[in-house]
Amino acid sequence: MRMATPRRYLMCPPAHFRVSYTINPWMDPSKPVDPVLALFQWEELRDRYRALGHTVEILDPLAGLPDMVFAANGATVVDGRVLGARFANPERSGEAPAHLAWFRANGFAEVRDPVHINEAEGDFAVTASWILAGQGFRSSPLSHGEAQEFFGRPVIGLELVDPHYYHLDTALAVLDGARDEVMYYPGAFSPGSRAVLARLFPDALLATAEDAAVLGLNAVSDGRNVLLPHNAAGLRAALAERGFDPVPVDLSELHKAGGSVKCCTMELRAG
Ligand code: ARG
Repeated sequence: MRMATPRRYLMCPPAHFRVSYTINPWMDPSKPVDPVLALFQWEELRDRYRALGHTVEILDPLAGLPDMVFAANGATVVDGRVLGARFANPERSGEAPAHLAWFRANGFAEVRDPVHINEAEGDFAVTASWILAGQGFRSSPLSHGEAQEFFGRPVIGLELVDPHYYHLDTALAVLDGARDEVMYYPGAFSPGSRAVLARLFPDALLATAEDAAVLGLNAVSDGRNVLLPHNAAGLRAALAERGFDPVPVDLSELHKAGGSVKCCTMELRAG
């Protein structure tokens, strides 16, 4: 029997969302994006969380930062401690101070402005025992030591090798934080990192290339309900078989920027 636990999330509406530059292979500025549909789809995701009993806090979007809807990249919060982000690309660097300001204004006492480049929950995944940390495209491996020292949790570096899966959260999702249960796409990782994942998570759900390509791993689980892109058919079936409730969400417009459910969702983990 799978148990959901109530979560607190931070999200940022796609009020200024567009695809106006290319910093990952999904982004094609010549392809049209429907901003009205993007906002509608995002609101559906927000309302789903609330209907499931979760709390959703809202970060005000800023003009000129079209990727700010991907709130997961703005900070990592573990045990109530906040490690800010430092973006790899100048197009997104303005998002980091906006996040820091939100945390400082909302009662978070321990907020660290990081020294090393890290794109927050884009590359950090929190399980019961570890923090998994992606590297290769965005976050610096130096950020792993910084996160380990700041959170006091062991950080396990994982090498990403496919530019389509440029953030860890495009290739791996935590399903049950209490049991160290994850799903991932092996093809996104180096051979050594695949061996590490197999050792840490021998019972992991392994995704196919097809499910990874619809960003099916960019999912959010509360321990029971797993919100994921609607077209990840294989994962939906495999999750149901494991006793989870897959909750399909259509974020077609945000997909054009290389993001989906998890990218829009930062988890505020209390102390
Ligand atoms: N266009 C954004 C970028 O390339 C998408 C970020 C997606 N966020 C995520 N957590 N994977 O930075």
